[in-house]
Amino acid sequence: MIEFEPKDISTQQVQQYILGGVAPRPIALVSTLSADGKRNLSPFSFFNAFGVNPPTIAFSPARRIRDGSTKHTYENLKETKECVVNAVTYSMVQQVNLASTEYEAGVDEFIKSGLKPLASDIVKPDRVADSPFQMECRLNQIINLGHDRGSGNLAICEIVKFHISEDIIDNGIIRPDMIDLVGRNSANYYTRANGNAIFEVEKPITKKGIGYDALPEFICNSKILTANNLGQLGNSESIPTEAELKQFETSIEKQTFVKEKYSRFKADKNPIEMLASAYQLVVQKDKKAVFMLEETASVALDNNNLTLAWMALLLAERLYQ
Ligand SMILES: Cc1cc2nc3c(=O)[nH]c(=O)nc-3n(C[C@H](O)[C@H](O)[C@H](O)COP(=O)(O)O)c2cc1C
Repeated sequence: MIEFEPKDISTQQVQQYILGGVAPRPIALVSTLSADGKRNLSPFSFFNAFGVNPPTIAFSPARRIRDGSTKHTYENLKETKECVVNAVTYSMVQQVNLASTEYEAGVDEFIKSGLKPLASDIVKPDRVADSPFQMECRLNQIINLGHDRGSGNLAICEIVKFHISEDIIDNGIIRPDMIDLVGRNSANYYTRANGNAIFEVEKPITKKGIGYDALPEFICNSKILTANNLGQLGNSESIPTEAELKQFETSIEKQTFVKEKYSRFKADKNPIEMLASAYQLVVQKDKKAVFMLEETASVALDNNNLTLAWMALLLAERLYQ
């Protein structure tokens, strides 16, 4: 580990580490008006949501590291106290980057970036038509986090109206693959929330997992299961009983063990067939099965099949005894 206190490194370096380690960050594309009615549009990735009642977001148009001056968005918000925060999707990321150019005060970044303005219903600043998720906001307060180069200005805003494209909603849920958001990382890196980057993790809210500390020792010592796998197992409400294991064994479709067949099932990521294939070795109390059963559990966990994973592991545990 490299270890340091922020006061001992440059502000630029602090920024680079924060950008890389607190990432990927959502991007707020913020539309504001100056006191004399000039449009401004700029992206901010020091941004997040902080409550839903009242619905509250905050972002930080920080002082420039270069000279400590403030940004137009900050000045506009102080003066007119309204904005529209638009989500940034992959299809508009290059135009958003263009909108981040440090144009002079009064230059309309809607025109510069080619992003299309759309009148809002409650606040005066326009929305961005290209974004499928737009929030009309009123400023709650700005907290100045310093008055030096790079100091943040936390603009806390209440959402007064949502505009959400029907194309991205399924059963009341915004589907991540449909909204196709991008996040900001360090330097020029971005993350696209699509394809393999999206995965599900079952919430422990309604149930109480047994916990990592309740896992049998041989599982914790496994050379095959990962820390994530152990986390999944710890999220189980209980370990299957001996009776449940016995009942499971009766349901296994018995096969003669053929190594090539097992390897094919493994390549197909089919844990049911992997277990059926290795089961004969279990019956023969052949310790070679332990490795295969742990592999089976790992594939089952990748498929979110917790029950099968437990059964494979409990069969393996029996071979240890
Ligand atoms: C994706 C992205 C995220 C950004 N995030 C921030 C941020 O969180 N805070 C900030 O002060 N500047 C951020 N910037 C830089 C501002 O967008 C840039 O300084 C812009 O010119 C400010 O415009 P304004 O002076 O018209 O408000 C970001 C730029 C990009 C491209």
